[in-house]
Amino acid sequence: MNFDDSAKNWDTDKRINRAKIIANEISNSINIGNNYSAMEFGCGTGLVSFNLYNKFKSITLIDSSKGMIDIVKSKIDKSKIDNMFPYCLDITDEDSLNKKFDVIYSSMVLHHIHDIEAIISKFYELLNEDGYLCIVDLDEDDGKFHKKYPDFHGHNGFNQDEFKNILISAGFKDVQSNTFFYDEKIVEGEKINYSLFLIKGRK
Ligand SMILES: C[S@@+](CC[C@H](N)C(=O)[O-])C[C@H]1O[C@@H](n2cnc3c(N)ncnc32)[C@H](O)[C@@H]1O
Repeated sequence: MNFDDSAKNWDTDKRINRAKIIANEISNSINIGNNYSAMEFGCGTGLVSFNLYNKFKSITLIDSSKGMIDIVKSKIDKSKIDNMFPYCLDITDEDSLNKKFDVIYSSMVLHHIHDIEAIISKFYELLNEDGYLCIVDLDEDDGKFHKKYPDFHGHNGFNQDEFKNILISAGFKDVQSNTFFYDEKIVEGEKINYSLFLIKGRK
């Protein structure tokens, strides 16, 4: 999937509304301290973080798509927000983040990442002691969610129990997950149902 191409038209009402619900679920699931730093992995146009920037001292926004990062940069400039810092990079094959965070969160990204164990271990390394990891992604799906993208070679959602075991094996404690969002979308004329879960763990 080419996210550079979709960046300009990413901010639909449906995605904006869904991002608000996702941001609320993330912030209600953890205790955010006054001086906490956060990192959003795969921020896209920043839809989730625009609902969270006033809860953190700073948010580092990471995305490997230059198109997405260009859009989020222009939105940050326009809104004159001074605590969100976007970077175009792929932390799955670069080691260029020399900073640690109190919270790492991610929405609808992990199903695009091939090696889930490796990225979860990377998040563990990048967290401060007692830091939180919050991941929002698709519950198991039969492939219909991405049916119109023949070049999609990611995961057709995740089994929450298997995902919990990956976090536990990486060293996370207090691992919990729950489904919190149910929706439908039209894919090639067919109505499909999907749901999203949040999984969290603590370093
Ligand atoms: C489905 S979009 C979700 C965007 C945003 N989180 C949202 O909820 O609107 C997935 C995003 O993950 C980014 N992404 C995919 N693989 C990545 C990687 N290895 N490193 C950083 N970003 C990645 C894509 O560029 C894209 O912006």
